[in-house]
Amino acid sequence: MIKNATFIKSFADLKTYKAESEKFTCPEICVAGRSNVGKSSFINMLTNRKKLAKTSSTPGRTRLLNTFDIDGKFVLVDLPGYGYAKASKSEIEKWSKLTNGYFETTTTLAHTLALVDIRHEPTAFDKQMIGYLYANGLPFTVIATKADKLSRAGQSKARRAIATALKIGSSNVILTSADTGQGREEVIARIEQVLATANESVEDDMPEEIEE
Ligand code: GTP
Ligand code: MG
Repeated sequence: MIKNATFIKSFADLKTYKAESEKFTCPEICVAGRSNVGKSSFINMLTNRKKLAKTSSTPGRTRLLNTFDIDGKFVLVDLPGYGYAKASKSEIEKWSKLTNGYFETTTTLAHTLALVDIRHEPTAFDKQMIGYLYANGLPFTVIATKADKLSRAGQSKARRAIATALKIGSSNVILTSADTGQGREEVIARIEQVLATANESVEDDMPEEIEE
């Protein structure tokens, strides 16, 4: 379940993010993916809040790291989209610095929800993102967005194509739609699983209680 979602803060640079995130007491789950794939819409669908994260049909809308507190259980991070072709070179540099820098800076990231558009074969950027997560040992789940644009048969076919292109198992791809709410329960179940494991490993790291 997700009951209470509240906006924490937006960060324009990593220095302020680092200072602030050190105060986070629960794990982070981030939402990554190319510009316009539906990251902000996905967050709104997940939290059942129409305007929590700002969405736009103009790609490149989210230019900051936006953070949301979810039930005091985890922090959801809305990352700026990568790979927006029409952006200027300096804009692209700024975004990729913020996005890549985020992964290097965060110390409490438990999981990445890597979003891809169900209608397209994963792009070079998508493959780069998955490759990056994989190479850095960052656990992730692939979320296919905009499932409402395809028939059920089309969705199954697309899921297999995405899994093959990204060299992952089909069961690691969750089909979602911000318009119909498809996949919401499945994503929440995955998050709960992730949080349970995150808490377990924190407990494992705790020193044994010392008797007086
Ligand atoms: P940036 O912030 O630019 O990186 O984009 P974003 O990934 O946050 O995308 P955003 O949520 O703003 O959505 C982009 C466009 O796709 C908007 O016009 C949304 O209405 C549309 N969209 C997002 N999710 C869905 C979906 O599940 N179904 C349909 N049909 N449209 C969607
Ligand atoms: Mg956005």
